[in-house]
Amino acid sequence: MNLVLLGPPGAGKGTQAQALAERLNIVRLSTGDMLRAEVAADTEFGRGIKATIEAGELVSDDLMIRLIGERIEKPDCASGFILDGFPRTVGQAEALDAMLEARGLKLDRVIEIKVDDEVLLARITGRYTCADCGAGYHDRFKRTKADGVCDLCGSKRFVRREDDNRKTVKARFKAYYGQTAPLLPYYRRRNVLRSVDGMAPICEVGRDMVKLLEWGQTD
Ligand code: AP5
Repeated sequence: MNLVLLGPPGAGKGTQAQALAERLNIVRLSTGDMLRAEVAADTEFGRGIKATIEAGELVSDDLMIRLIGERIEKPDCASGFILDGFPRTVGQAEALDAMLEARGLKLDRVIEIKVDDEVLLARITGRYTCADCGAGYHDRFKRTKADGVCDLCGSKRFVRREDDNRKTVKARFKAYYGQTAPLLPYYRRRNVLRSVDGMAPICEVGRDMVKLLEWGQTD
């Protein structure tokens, strides 16, 4: 199964993609994580995109299309994948369609996670992740079971993202509504788009997504 999760910054794409990937036993491809790993490793690619990410703007289509094109060739994508953060422009969506078609594949579903703007900022500014395994948490909405200890790997080291500050978040929202939201009519026209209510608690959003995938429920 090949899926795309769409939604504004903080909507819960990463949270749900992580859970869905485990449940469906397919790979989660988070372009945000891939780009941050390049920056952290101080590669030439990472140095080239660091300022763009820190400004909350989009990395160029050419670079992103090449990154995903190379990644979906890898054997772990053969049984399907969940794209979290890609495509983000109509140009990226068209390139993805072409890449899949060339491999005899298609997109099974695009799931939009709908969340009111007012709650997105609170979600983003309270977010942190395990520095060792990448599991995601939130100061209020998803705390670790034991204080300061990762539920998944037991690590006591956590990190917050450089771009999770008010100024950058504003630019990220602008990029989403200006460049990514046009993907909603793009996928609606192809009849693959479905929506879930991302205002519900995390486990309920997850349940709705699974239902939607199992039963093909429409919005
Ligand atoms: P990326 O990492 O993709 O960031 P984003 O799209 O802004 O999304 P976020 O990761 O902020 O939010 P999310 O929807 O995953 O929410 P999460 O699950 O963490 O991209 C970063 C940057 O990389 C971009 O700005 C751009 O520069 C670049 N980039 C990446 N891809 C690109 C592309 N294709 N083209 C060009 N540039 C690209 O949830 C947020 C918090 O809320 C968490 O703490 C979570 O625990 C909590 N939470 C989640 N769901 C709920 C819920 N239902 N109720 C309560 N709390 C919840």
